[in-house]
Amino acid sequence: MCGIVGYTGSQNAAPLLLEGLKKLEYRGYDSAGIAVVEGNTIHIRKVTGRIANLCEKTGDGQGIPGTTGIGHTRWATHGAPTDTNAHPHTSNDGRFAVVHNGIIENYVELRRELTQKGYRFESETDTEVIVHLVEMYYGGDFKQAVMKAANRLRGSYALGIVCANEPGRIFVMREASPLIVGLGIGETYFASDVTAMVAYTRNVIYLEDGEFAELTPEGVQVYDCAGREIPKPISRITWDIQAAEKGGYAHFMLKEIMEQPRAAKATLAPRIQSGEVVLENLTLDWGKIQKIMITACGSAYYAGCAGKYTIEKLCRIPVQLELASELRYADPLVDEHTLLIVLSQSGETADTIAAMKECRNRGAQILAIVNVVGSTIAKLADCTLYTWAGPEIAVATTKGYTTQLLVLYLFALYAGKLRGTLKADQYHRLVGELRSLPRRMQLALDMNPRIPKLAKKYHKADSLFFIGRNTDYAVALEGALKMKEISYIHAESYAAGELKHGTIALIHEGQPVVALCCNPAVMEKTLSNIVEVIARGAEVLAVAERGNQTVLSVADDMLYVPRVDTLLSACVEIIPLQLLAYYVAKENGCDIDKPKNLAKSVTVE
Ligand code: AGP
Repeated sequence: MCGIVGYTGSQNAAPLLLEGLKKLEYRGYDSAGIAVVEGNTIHIRKVTGRIANLCEKTGDGQGIPGTTGIGHTRWATHGAPTDTNAHPHTSNDGRFAVVHNGIIENYVELRRELTQKGYRFESETDTEVIVHLVEMYYGGDFKQAVMKAANRLRGSYALGIVCANEPGRIFVMREASPLIVGLGIGETYFASDVTAMVAYTRNVIYLEDGEFAELTPEGVQVYDCAGREIPKPISRITWDIQAAEKGGYAHFMLKEIMEQPRAAKATLAPRIQSGEVVLENLTLDWGKIQKIMITACGSAYYAGCAGKYTIEKLCRIPVQLELASELRYADPLVDEHTLLIVLSQSGETADTIAAMKECRNRGAQILAIVNVVGSTIAKLADCTLYTWAGPEIAVATTKGYTTQLLVLYLFALYAGKLRGTLKADQYHRLVGELRSLPRRMQLALDMNPRIPKLAKKYHKADSLFFIGRNTDYAVALEGALKMKEISYIHAESYAAGELKHGTIALIHEGQPVVALCCNPAVMEKTLSNIVEVIARGAEVLAVAERGNQTVLSVADDMLYVPRVDTLLSACVEIIPLQLLAYYVAKENGCDIDKPKNLAKSVTVE
């Protein structure tokens, strides 16, 4: 969703802001803009569409002088994606400019009040109230004006504000939206995501909710909401900058698919020691836990769907799955006997955060499984297990999803042993199997060279069905989502046994059906469903273990996976489906890394 960047130092700000914004493109946006302070003037440039248009309009930023500035990529919420609605927004006197990531929930009443006081609104955005508030409260003290304005805001925001009277000073502020300050030598940065500044500095400060900071070329001063100075630790970004580059691949998504064996090793290696699962900082009150609830959105939710089978089987404890957007309003039956497991790649998903807070208020213990270090969800949880997948740039998650599965498997084995529900020999066999998963994921990548060809056959389909039973069904859910979100082909996942209760009416001559047949316990049943759809004209593309002659004899086409225990197989089974979605989207000429209407980090409700 929206992204913000800022710079103050001795270099020309505009080119740096544009470079930073390019790094945030993956978050999803539909307009962009920058504001640069030069002397006592603020230069504003905004465009609808891509950053490339902004680069063209500003001669890659060279045409705009000034060494302090802020920038923004906007994903439209309040008002259409137009130049006028694009950020930065300026005060009526032209003295202040603001960029904002988040939503101001009380903007209607603030807008009414400010309009009555004579402030003129140019845009339809919620953001514009912020800059008029700052102007209203400004009596010569920039910091006081920012603080007073912030006290009037309700909702979520990460803000950057510049003032023409005070070149070289930027105020930033955070409430329920990520904001990170980067410390250089004689220059200071901020951004909603470290990828925007890691090329310039690795020393960062994570702001917490309710904090604001004053940035100057000399450094940063952080304040609490009452304006008192607070000391903040400096963290070091350790991942390699190339992790956020395409590295020769046509798309980030393909790179991230291919990276999965390596990411899996990073997730597993530190946590399997001398044949035992070791989970750092898992300080839960195990005696209290009577049920587990898993909540998340999108693919993270589907990782939970697969993880449920493994946890229930190995830990013999009921696992309930809830979509975070539903759970937050569900008046859930959660108490101190509930362990809530929250899954999120970004750690910033608004619905997931809200669901988490709802369950926290009811007494649940919370374990977060998150990729982005220092993110809101990681901080809110009682315990956090990082997935260590490295930065994931493509909007469609791949390594984020598979590493979430791996952490769920680790958790299931760890908890199963601890609870005494898992026999020693089964535990050791599964730990061994878990350790072999990076290699098997690599095999799943290698054994499907025909996928680009299959994509040529299936890319014209109007719709695709993904069917499976049990763990295969959980993978079908994610397979269908991958197909929809990047190829724009309607795809529906169905529990194979449910087809005959209605949906089979949609099967017609030539209808492609992707059938997952990897779970031996239910394979015969799935085969019966395959035969039923074939009898109605469907073309079946089956996913099965290589060498499975029975499936081969009925399917039209095959995707192969290596043999893996069913309880751990989802992270391998999904790989050919990720590749299929990728190549189908490529055939259809889709914008694979930045699919239309989607954002990487969904920070609004
Ligand atoms: C998956 O490809 C999507 N981009 C989306 O469903 C995503 O998984 C969901 O929005 C949750 O995001 P999170 O993991 O960052 O919380």
